[in-house]
Order: sequence, then structure tokens, then C-alpha cells
Amino acid sequence: MISIIGAGKVGSVCAFNILKMHLSDIILVDIMEGLARGEALDMLQSTSLIGFDGIIEGSEDISHIENSELVIVIAGAARKPGTSRLDLTRTNAKIISLIIPQIVDYAPECKIMIVTNPVDVMTYIAYKKSGFEKNRVFGMGGLLDTSRYCSYLAVELGVSRDSVQGLVIGEHGDGMIPLIDYTTASGIPIKKLLSKEQIEKIVEKTKTGGMDVINLKGSTVYAPAISITTMANSIIKDQKRIVCTPTIPDGEYGLKEVALGLPIILGKNGIEKIIELDLSEAEKKNLLGAATAIRSAISQVTEI
Ligand code: 2OP
Repeated sequence: MISIIGAGKVGSVCAFNILKMHLSDIILVDIMEGLARGEALDMLQSTSLIGFDGIIEGSEDISHIENSELVIVIAGAARKPGTSRLDLTRTNAKIISLIIPQIVDYAPECKIMIVTNPVDVMTYIAYKKSGFEKNRVFGMGGLLDTSRYCSYLAVELGVSRDSVQGLVIGEHGDGMIPLIDYTTASGIPIKKLLSKEQIEKIVEKTKTGGMDVINLKGSTVYAPAISITTMANSIIKDQKRIVCTPTIPDGEYGLKEVALGLPIILGKNGIEKIIELDLSEAEKKNLLGAATAIRSAISQVTEI
């Protein structure tokens, strides 16, 4: 069973993705009267055509997440044009601090995936409030940044999206760090295919990708939803997919007591392993800078 707390656009598109993949039963939870139940009923009415024979349920009552294997937390305020994800810290810290103890009560064995922004900070709060092991509490951010980065690169290169692979670590925000030396098109380093200026342009578009969409239509939906779904798939099917995502290092990259995007192996146990890469001096400096910015935001939070 996968539970999704927050049945807004991202939560409901993610739930529908999961149903279409026949990946798992779904419990959708939202405090807004009727929203989760309405989204679930709408999806139920599609199940004969998508061939899904499991459970899709909506509720205002979080106790319905009981014994979920994976709980995805999307609830919280979203960014508005002109604001940063870090601007949401105080508001969403209160929400996450209320939700996590209930998840621990109703699904004590689950893995928790945090989507609520600023996701690095909220992931750290969730880890501290839950008392869970590090491997069972993680965020969704770096995979979304990586998807934007690779999608833009493929368009620039004029090649299939399947051909481009990359890694984006650091903060899911201004402090994100695309690892250019580890970015390839079918094994060919992109530095051999694109100019420095082209790559820099794409790195910048990756950083502003979320706000670019928000400025046009108010919020991002499909890219976050499919990023969440891709991670859920790796967990439920124990795929051991390598992704970048907010996690809590225990000395890796010289970091502790923070959550930020690092390359990890994602499987049935959640974070199976943090992969340590050789970084350039600039990348190391930027990663420490991202950790400092996230720690500064964490220090504003009185709930932990
Ligand atoms: C995004 O970048 C919502 O942080 C999410 O779309």
C-alpha cells in the first residue's frame, strides 16, 4: 500500500500514474473536505479501462494510511511567483511536524518520502521527528532537477531523451549542482558534444525550471508527479535505481546533520546506499555551500 498525504494536483497525478502502472493500492489523504474522496472516486471510475484491480481510496482521516509500505508527503503551501522554496520553511515546518508523528503512529514500519518544500529542510525535520533510521526517510527533489536537466540537454542535442543521463546533487533550489563531468549521451561526455556556453545555459534553465513553470501556470505538476512515481516504482519493485535525492548523510562527502541531494541507490529498504563520487573543488565548495544554506533554514525551525 502507498499512501499519499496531499491530494492536490501533484498528489492526484502521482496517484493516477501509480494506478496506470498497476504498481500499488493507493490511499489518498487530504484535510480538504471531499478532495481526496473525490479524486479517488474519479480514478476508481477509470479502473476498468486502465485494468487496475486494486484499492484506490480517499479520506480526510490520516488513520487510513495504517500499515502503508510507503507514505508520500506532499501536503503544505506551494511557492508563488517570485518566492523561493526556502520562503516556505516556517509554514511547512509546522505542517510536517504535525503529520510525521501521525505517520509514525499509523505506519511505524513505512518509508517516508517528503515532497513538501523546501524539501531538504522538510526531509531533515521528518527524520528528526520520526525517530526512524536514516534509510527510511528521504525526499524527492534531485530526480526532478535531473529530469529537467536531462530533458533540456536532449532537446539541445537533438537526441532521444533515453540517451541522456546525468546527476544533479545539492539543494533542491538555488544550490543545486548538476555534475557535468558525470553527464553523458550514451556514454559520450556532454562536454564533447556541447559548448561551455550551451551547457551553462542548460544548467541555468534547470535551476529556474520550477519557477519558469510557476510563472506561466501557477504550479508545477507533471514533472514532480512522475519523479515521485519513478522513485515509488524503484522502492516497491526494489529496482535499486541510482537517483539523486535529499537524504541524510552520515559523514559521506564530509556531511552530517543535514539533508540534501546526493546520489543514492533506491530500493525496498529506501536509501540502500549513498554513493560517494569524486567531485571537483568547485563542486565540493558548492555542496558545502548548499549544506550551509539548508542548515541555516533548519535553524529557523523551532519544531525540532
Ligand atoms: C518543483 O521544482 C515543486 O519543487 C518542486 O517543481
